[in-house]
Amino acid sequence: MKQIVITKYGDTDVLKIQERKDPKPSAGEVLIAVKAIGVNFADILARKGLYPDAPKPPCVVGYEVSGVIEAVGQGVDSSMPGKSVLALTRFNGYSDKICVPERQVFVIPGSLDFERAAAIPVNYLTAYQLICVMGGLRKGESILIHNAGGGVGLAALDISLHLEATTYGTSSANKHSFLMERGLNHALDYRHRDFLSSVMSLTDGRGVELIIDPIGGKNWKKSYRALRSTGRLGMFGVSTVTESTMGRVFRFIKLLAQMPWYNPLGLMNANKSVFGVNLGHMWKEGDKIAGWMQEILKGVEDGWVRPHVDRTFLFEQAGEAHAYIEARKNIGKIVLVTGG
Ligand SMILES: NC(=O)c1ccc[n+]([C@@H]2O[C@H](COP(=O)([O-])OP(=O)(O)OC[C@H]3O[C@@H](n4cnc5c(N)ncnc54)[C@H](OP(=O)(O)O)[C@@H]3O)[C@@H](O)[C@H]2O)c1
Repeated sequence: MKQIVITKYGDTDVLKIQERKDPKPSAGEVLIAVKAIGVNFADILARKGLYPDAPKPPCVVGYEVSGVIEAVGQGVDSSMPGKSVLALTRFNGYSDKICVPERQVFVIPGSLDFERAAAIPVNYLTAYQLICVMGGLRKGESILIHNAGGGVGLAALDISLHLEATTYGTSSANKHSFLMERGLNHALDYRHRDFLSSVMSLTDGRGVELIIDPIGGKNWKKSYRALRSTGRLGMFGVSTVTESTMGRVFRFIKLLAQMPWYNPLGLMNANKSVFGVNLGHMWKEGDKIAGWMQEILKGVEDGWVRPHVDRTFLFEQAGEAHAYIEARKNIGKIVLVTGG
């Protein structure tokens, strides 16, 4: 089998394809012949040495794949081989064959191709946890989705529209017409105009009920100020850490220095709440994840979950795929295809 290895921290040229012995499924696992691999921002952070959760190089990242089950280990339903599935992988997703615990594997609904199936797990589960589980977004409320044109952003838009919320989304301006066609109510060009003043002027100074913010640092302070009374701020990433040219340690010190500190009395008096989401720390909650995934896959069948793949890159072009996302060119998901 082949894997894309992060050989050391650095630019895209540190990604190298290496041959490995084919894996064999252990008890409770399935072996998947991978067709498509979802690329996530976390993979880029890992390559740059900015993602503390990732294994140390040389390592293989990748949180999600789709493909066909080739074999199963002891104790797994023997009718599974041949089924088309999507799966959550705890790293190692950048592989053309992979063994995954059965509980992290889901049969692909008939209407989805492998590319769009690989675009579902991380983006939709994260958005679902942020909006439905912890953010409690209700019909008639409003949500601000940061990076609305990205993978998680588009998933969040689908879910918010399904809940009949009013949607505000920040993104680079070239993505606005696409977002409005998808149903976004208010597109904000946060790179050229302060999003806080845009939100406040669009809401008559009140703010919005839910904000999901993967940028981090001082952006969280501003997002908090854009919350209406009863508002909730979901924090789930620190993309801002990639913007600095400082060394790794200094980047994190700067990030910490810019972060807000929330005081319980302040939260109480403002009628606001803050929470965090890290899907990568949910491996022990397989039952919850499976329940959310069933809702999402039902949403595919009902038509409101619409995974959007912007571009596919060949397995050999993982570096180009990373560069494309880093240049902020992607609208929705970027997927690697194995050609197998
Ligand atoms: N906690 C979790 O469980 C979890 C799970 C999934 C993702 N995340 C986080 O959510 C964020 C989005 O992830 P994603 O995989 O869906 O990526 P993505 O949004 O598809 O891709 C990146 C997009 O983010 C925007 N962006 C903002 N700051 C950027 C920067 N410094 N460099 C490059 N692009 C930047 C760009 O769009 P615009 O210029 O249009 O804004 C870019 O197109 C990331 O911070 C990721 O770490 C967290």
